[in-house]
Amino acid sequence: MEYLIKQYALEPGALEIQYIEEHFGEFPRRKTAAEIIDRLRDRESLILMAEASLQDDPGALVPVSYKIVHEIRVDESIPKLRDLVGRLSGAVRFDGRRILYSWIGGTRRDWRGQGHFRALTEESEVWALAAGFEEVVVKTKNRYYDMRAVLAQLHFNVVKHEPHATDTAESKVYLSKLLPAELARRHRSVRTVVYSE
Ligand SMILES: CC(C)(COP(=O)(O)OP(=O)(O)OC[C@H]1O[C@@H](n2cnc3c(N)ncnc32)[C@H](O)[C@@H]1OP(=O)(O)O)[C@@H](O)C(=O)NCCC(=O)NCCS
Repeated sequence: MEYLIKQYALEPGALEIQYIEEHFGEFPRRKTAAEIIDRLRDRESLILMAEASLQDDPGALVPVSYKIVHEIRVDESIPKLRDLVGRLSGAVRFDGRRILYSWIGGTRRDWRGQGHFRALTEESEVWALAAGFEEVVVKTKNRYYDMRAVLAQLHFNVVKHEPHATDTAESKVYLSKLLPAELARRHRSVRTVVYSE
């Protein structure tokens, strides 16, 4: 299978993500385009979306999976990111290294398990390597069992566990993956990427 991936410029990408997140019942708080633009405006980032055909109308392509990754720096001014960098201290080394954060992503239910998220992740790794990033970090919760299983398949390693005071399922798990130059040789998906301004 060949995956069709669209790489978006910031503003149209933020609108597309806002739209696709409306299909995700499991996210309690969906991101708005304004929130996405605010966070990404002054930093290096990548907005990717996979498209696939509808089962009952193979000619029609629809967005089925998405992923946003962005740079995080040791001197963050956005409070949420400053907090994140603080929590990563001791688990991820920032000094002189470019660190990428895998912020949001998902695949629409009917298209899960078909490799779309792997394809987006592999494409983001190719981009990250070219941009000089050395490590990619992601945060999840114990109760996101699908995501934890997928991150294991994609060879992310747990670097920190932050227990929740009363509910273990709510505990946070931080994972990371080093991006050595030869990583792209281990990629498995075949991808076509188009750029959308
Ligand atoms: C997690 C999620 C993004 C995976 O997307 P997807 O497109 O179905 O993933 P892929 O098909 O690319 O699968 C990637 C790998 O994980 C494996 N995998 C996928 N879903 C899995 C599951 N539920 N359990 C175990 N393994 C799974 C696949 O077999 C594949 O491995 P392989 O390539 O080595 O064969 C999707 O299930 C999702 O959107 N879940 C809800 C969102 C969510 O939980 N968010 C958490 C917020 S942190």
